[in-house]
Formats: sequence, structure tokens, C-alpha cells
Amino acid sequence: MRPPRAELHLHLEGTLEPELAFELAERNRVALPFADVDALRAAYEFTDLQSFLDLYYANMSVLRTAEDFADLTRAYLRRAAAAGVRHAEIMVDPQAHLLRGIPLQELLDGVGPVLAASERDFGVSTLLIAAFLRDRPAAEAYSVLESLLAAGAPLAAVGLDSTEVGFSAAPFAPVFAKAAAAGLRRTAHAGEEGPASNVTEVLDALGAERVDHGIRAMEDPAVVDRLARDRVPLTVCPLSNVRLNAVPSLAAHPLPAMMAAGLHVSVHSDDPAYFGGYVDDVDDALVAELGLGRAERAALAAASFTGSFLPADRVDAYLREVADWAASEPAEA
Ligand code: HPA
Ligand code: ZN
Repeated sequence: MRPPRAELHLHLEGTLEPELAFELAERNRVALPFADVDALRAAYEFTDLQSFLDLYYANMSVLRTAEDFADLTRAYLRRAAAAGVRHAEIMVDPQAHLLRGIPLQELLDGVGPVLAASERDFGVSTLLIAAFLRDRPAAEAYSVLESLLAAGAPLAAVGLDSTEVGFSAAPFAPVFAKAAAAGLRRTAHAGEEGPASNVTEVLDALGAERVDHGIRAMEDPAVVDRLARDRVPLTVCPLSNVRLNAVPSLAAHPLPAMMAAGLHVSVHSDDPAYFGGYVDDVDDALVAELGLGRAERAALAAASFTGSFLPADRVDAYLREVADWAASEPAEA
């Protein structure tokens, strides 16, 4: 059986499977520059983060109406439930849609009601995270945050994503300060392609409570010590790291070293339609390639809940589900 999990590092737009992309393209009379689903899937050969982001943003052209966003969200939640996800903290990129002329309200009207009904419809509790694009001006992010707050968007947190190398996180300090003042939690991508100092930067400049990826923190023992001491949750995405060449192979992934160093790590899928899988696929790959056993899988599952933005009583209830899973899962031979 699958361990129950919280999915904490998931870009909704990265769950757009080629089949749905073509369905929406037809519905919206948008042309995709690929002959068919197979041709699109065949283009999922990435050299680095930017080569992925170029296609990820291009494919968003099919997402136009609230109905499109609702269909995408439902498809993800259905698949996530089958993967053992009990709670999902879902990132969206509002700027990526605004820049294409899609009104914020289409995104919110599509995603909001589906997330609100998700526990009932899919057995998955949810929180919504608005992620800001690091390679766009911080002033733009600030104004989008103002619009989100004015629209009463059902946000739990803000995040920071997109191109890491060449773009500092520090200019986003006022955006994160405003989010904190509005009662929102804070996470940020760092240390995916950029150095360990980028991890420190999002903690210090943005007050990030959680770090997305953070794998390159392992290159600086002082940063590792700080992350371990402060129990900063790191949302690691092993399949993403391999597909984007942040690590040479799953067998060479720093995950076991991160766990051994006492870091608060959990594993997630990032952009599952593009990187070869949802959290069940991640779980299978870690068992097959890194030899993770029941105890490590239970520890990662528990960390996914303790690293979430849920209140303590909800975390405790989910931790009991993880303990029940571990008690019923046979030990490996
Ligand atoms: N890294 C940075 N930005 C992103 C990613 C990622 O893996 N996926 C979607 N936006
Ligand atoms: Zn990500």
C-alpha cells in the first residue's frame, strides 16, 4: 500500500498532461506547436530548469477559462488521491496567466471551488499557494499580491519560483513582508540550481518558513547545520532533479545524505506531468533506486505532514494515519 502523504511541492500548471493539453487546445481553438500527444510528450527532454520552463509556460496557452483551471485541478486531485495524497498544498503562478491576458478571476473561479470541495470529492484536503516569478520584477509581484488580496483569493501562503540562477530573491522582501502581514505563510524555491547561499537568502531576506528543493544546501556545512538546527522543511523533488539535470541520477541523489544529516526533508513531485510521475511514482523510484525501506518511507511521509502549513491537530491526525500505514505495511525482505 501507499503511505499517506502531504504533497507540498506541486505546481498546478505542471500537472497539465499532454492529453488534457490537447483537449483544452481544441476547446479553446488554440494551436499547440506539436502534431499530437506523442509529439508533445517526446518534447519532454530537458537539459536544465530553463529548458523545462520554456515549454511549461508555452503549454499554458491552452488554459484560458475558469472551466479549464477547474478541469486541470480536478484531474490533479483525482490522480493525487490515487497516489495516496491526503493533503495537498498547491502552487499556482498567477503572473504567468496575467501576462498572457488571462484575468486573475478566471484562475480563482476555476481553482477555488474545486479546492474547497476537494476533501469531500477526493478525500484530499488542500491549501493554495500563490507563487511569484523570480525572473520578473518584484514590483509586479507586489501588485499581483495586492490584487489577490483585494479579490479575497483563498490563499494560505506565498511562494517564489521560476528561473533561479541570475535572479536574486532579496528584491521580493517587501512582497513576502506584505504576505506575512496579511497572515500568509511563506515558502520559496532555492538551492535547486543555485548555490547554498540562495537557501540562506530566502530564509533571511524573505522569512521563508520552508524551502522548495534546497538540495544544494548540502554543499555548505554551515547551511546544513542551520537547516538541521532550525528544522526547516525542505521539499525535495527527486524525479524533477534528475529530469532537469540538477543531479546526474537518482542513485546519486543527495536525499539519503540529507536524511542522514538530520534535515527535515520530504519528497514531492514538482511538475508531475513533465517529470515522470506523481508521489506514488516518486515512492516507487526511491524504493527501486535508493533502496528505501518501510522506516524511511514512513519518515518521509511523516515529514510531509510536519512540514505542511496545517494546524497541529490536523498534522497529528495525519501522523496517526502514517503510523497505521507503517504498522500494516510488511517490512522489506
Ligand atoms: N523550479 C522553479 N520554478 C518552477 C518549477 C521548478 O521546478 N516548476 C515550475 N516552476
Ligand atoms: Zn517547483
